[in-house]
Amino acid sequence: MAKVKTVYVCASCGARYPRWQGQCRECGEWNTISEIRVNDEPSAGRSAAARAMSGFAGASGSGVSNLNNVKLEKAQRLYTGYGEFDRVLGGGIVPGSVVLLGGNPGAGKSTLLLQTVCKLASHAAVLYITGEESLQQVALRAQRLMLPTERVRIAAETSIDEICRIAAEEKPAVLIVDSIQVMHVQGVESAPGSVSQVREGAAALTQFAKKTGIAVFLIGHVTKDGTLAGPKILEHCVDCSVILESGNDPRFRTLRCHKNRFGAVNEIGVFAMTDHGLCEVKNPSAIFLNRQETVAPGSLAMVVWEGTRPLLVELQALVDLSQLGNPRRLSLGTDPNRLAMLLSVLHRHGGCQLADQDVFVNVVGGVKVEETASDVPLILALLSSYHSKPIDRTTIAFGEVGLTGEIRPVPSGQERIAEAFKQGFKRAIVPFDNAPKKAPAGMEIIAVKRIGDLIDLV
Ligand code: TYD
Ligand code: MG
Repeated sequence: MAKVKTVYVCASCGARYPRWQGQCRECGEWNTISEIRVNDEPSAGRSAAARAMSGFAGASGSGVSNLNNVKLEKAQRLYTGYGEFDRVLGGGIVPGSVVLLGGNPGAGKSTLLLQTVCKLASHAAVLYITGEESLQQVALRAQRLMLPTERVRIAAETSIDEICRIAAEEKPAVLIVDSIQVMHVQGVESAPGSVSQVREGAAALTQFAKKTGIAVFLIGHVTKDGTLAGPKILEHCVDCSVILESGNDPRFRTLRCHKNRFGAVNEIGVFAMTDHGLCEVKNPSAIFLNRQETVAPGSLAMVVWEGTRPLLVELQALVDLSQLGNPRRLSLGTDPNRLAMLLSVLHRHGGCQLADQDVFVNVVGGVKVEETASDVPLILALLSSYHSKPIDRTTIAFGEVGLTGEIRPVPSGQERIAEAFKQGFKRAIVPFDNAPKKAPAGMEIIAVKRIGDLIDLV
């Protein structure tokens, strides 16, 4: 007889505790911890998958073999037909992988996957399981979006055991489960959406995917109040975790990869939400860089690196004499600590005193910049605003600033310059070590070594 233990699990981050408490120490959320029972027996969910898989061709033989003998021909990736989605997944769907698509309710998760299966259906067998909407609702949406639906197999189901059984019969290449929080596993007593149901359900589907080679997409809602177990608690058991989020601009959605066993993370894909569903934005730099003809002081375009590609965004700074004893420093889209550090470097090594000024910094379009390449543009924008001298709108900048006032190179300098040139920029202010030997024809490269060079430029 297996021993049954009681543990307390946070629904938002999955942290475990030996006893109940009001606040989760890991993620800081309140009232998200609930009791679950775990035992040493093979879980109900996993045995559900095992029951359904008996009789599936790929299910037999999980023996030990040499790594070099493992057959690789099935590892051919499947392309979704959406370049942006494929890139975020690391270059298409890997057979047998489990992808978690998270996002706030209404982010467009169902829309994205419905559009994707309809595209996929032209060259692969697909099965869409809807647990949230009825078959009619899905059909109506597909009709409204004018999607080709002839070859899309669909079922309305909320039992994991049934889903595994149906999928073993249908043998699709890709299985969509919308959403994991409404699914339930036979033998698990708690309500759908609870930590134990979500975990058992996902574990069963993961095991099913691995054994059968079917790629599984799980939709998971991100909820703040903890009434549903969030995707965070599933992150460890899936191969790839992708979040669909909307930034400041409600028209656009970014697809961001947080974990990927088969590719780079931090890759982003950009989509626009239109009345015809989600459309790919192939050139996101163009939307983030939608600038006016005349540029005001304090604005400058910069090249940041997102995943495996450069992205051009506009950075704005406002420096204004403070009316308060304690001047304000505010940065949106960049690290506030880094702003404080750069202001000190500017003072100590550039002799530029902003201690009596309010300083505001904003990255246009709600983009979050996490890399240090934004240091040089940030200093240029600050100086430009402080001296009320606009920077030519065809100028682009990137580079890191060190604590001793030196300008340090950043990775992928050449690619950044090439992207800026492609977008029509004529002048690039770059770290000396990033300056190319041969600049693109018609592009002026200004190589800078110290913070003093930036001050001379403005
Ligand atoms: P949905 O895919 O149902 O969201 P999720 O599954 O993530 O909860 O998308 C719902 C939102 O998308 C809703 O707010 C309306 C919007 N939407 C459009 O703007 N245009 C469209 O063509 C569709 C299908 C949805
Ligand atoms: Mg939905």
